[in-house]
Amino acid sequence: MASRVIPVKPFDLVIFGGTGDLALRKIIPSLYRRFLAGQMPPQARVIGAARRDLDTEAYRRMALSALEEFVAEEKRDPEKIAAFIEMLSYIRLDARGETGWNELAEALREGVIRVFYFSVGPGLFADLARRLVKHRLNDADSRVVVEKPFGHDLESARALNAVLAKCFDEHHIYRIDHYLGKETVQNLMVVRFANTLFEPLWNAQYVDHIQITVAETVGVAGRGEYYDRAGAMRDMVQNHMMQLLCLIAMEPPSLFEADAVRDEKLKVIRALDPVPPENIVRGQYARKGDIPSYREDVGNPESTTESFIAMEVHVSNWRWSGTPFYLRTGKRLKARVSEIAVIFKEPPHSIFGRRLPNHAGNMLVIRLQPNEGMVLNVTIKEPGPGGMRLMEVPLDMSFAEALGENGADIPDAYERLIMDVIRGNQTLFMRGDEVEAAWAWADPIIAGWEERGDEPLPYEPFGSGPEDALMLMHRSGRRWREISDEL
Ligand code: BG6
Repeated sequence: MASRVIPVKPFDLVIFGGTGDLALRKIIPSLYRRFLAGQMPPQARVIGAARRDLDTEAYRRMALSALEEFVAEEKRDPEKIAAFIEMLSYIRLDARGETGWNELAEALREGVIRVFYFSVGPGLFADLARRLVKHRLNDADSRVVVEKPFGHDLESARALNAVLAKCFDEHHIYRIDHYLGKETVQNLMVVRFANTLFEPLWNAQYVDHIQITVAETVGVAGRGEYYDRAGAMRDMVQNHMMQLLCLIAMEPPSLFEADAVRDEKLKVIRALDPVPPENIVRGQYARKGDIPSYREDVGNPESTTESFIAMEVHVSNWRWSGTPFYLRTGKRLKARVSEIAVIFKEPPHSIFGRRLPNHAGNMLVIRLQPNEGMVLNVTIKEPGPGGMRLMEVPLDMSFAEALGENGADIPDAYERLIMDVIRGNQTLFMRGDEVEAAWAWADPIIAGWEERGDEPLPYEPFGSGPEDALMLMHRSGRRWREISDEL
């Protein structure tokens, strides 16, 4: 099965923060992989812009070593790399001063799509937006890509939206949440809305509860300054997990089109109940042997920021009333795994007598990473004579196995998202009102634990987080799925 690639139109992509970690680790390697796939037109150009005193040659060398580090060996074709690198250039530029802006204006071509990628700290978003306008660099067809974090709370998100709205129309603004670019996240919408099988059951009548887990084994060393001010709630829940929740819970949009999808997501966020303290468990990883604790990693011995959070969340609408959504995310957990599990209710009456011990019932697991795929647990008869014994088997689909080459070669989220920006497709990007609604829900939750002075519970690294997180489910007779990278 050869994958179909439609080249995009010629573009000039300016990466502000072009020498930064995100540019080198994600943006440039993703562009190279799209180039390799034949999606970048030969006339495309990528301009790295940053404060560092470099010239184009030095920038190209920097990009080359990034490709060597972040692109899989089998994808590193020296001729292709050389051709790709030719598309890159560098401009020394100061977001808060005049350096480089005239040069940038001269470098941009008329009549090609312009993309301005704000791959910088949020403190510079407003400066960049204003300077783009001052120098009249954005035209009717430009796009501005804004990275996370989009604000720290509702007030800062509103202020940022207001600055952007003064400078650009909403349809020029692409707020990235890279979770939306993940292949399986997009698949979630296809599974729900392109099959007749699931949608009739996708409601409180048939779904007992939903679990969303994003577990990581890494700690926060190296990002301590940012992370200690954010914590798991701001870093993961308000954005990535909220997006997953929206895609699972939303009503079918009339079309797979940017505003139709975003309108439905917004309704979900607005239907979220406030979360009482007894439905929240926050944790912080402790030291284990040579592995430093969270507080050591961030260099703040008194930090009360959470590196783990589990919550029971309710969506108060007709479809979901009575079905809890359990969210759980954390650093330094047992495995790196992101998945969504939809646990269906028991049949109303068992004609086979006793239930199975540890019966999990029908469950659909959508695995985002690693080993992207889906599993549907069904109950069948245990083979052989000796009465009617029941067992559960997974109907299992690993994309890598089922789709062969194409399944194994799942593009990075950034590849899809950057190409969408160039195509002018905002469906997988967050609209300003969505981001604000998510903060409006998150702010009082955060304010609640700050006012109460709640301390996160310590947890042992490489486990499942604090005991209390298990209790969050046990109290209603439910269980979390094991944190495991096996489907
Ligand atoms: C980022 C968070 O947005 O997402 C990180 O800031 C987190 O803390 C990362 O590690 C997770 O992304 P992924 O794609 O590795 O699941």
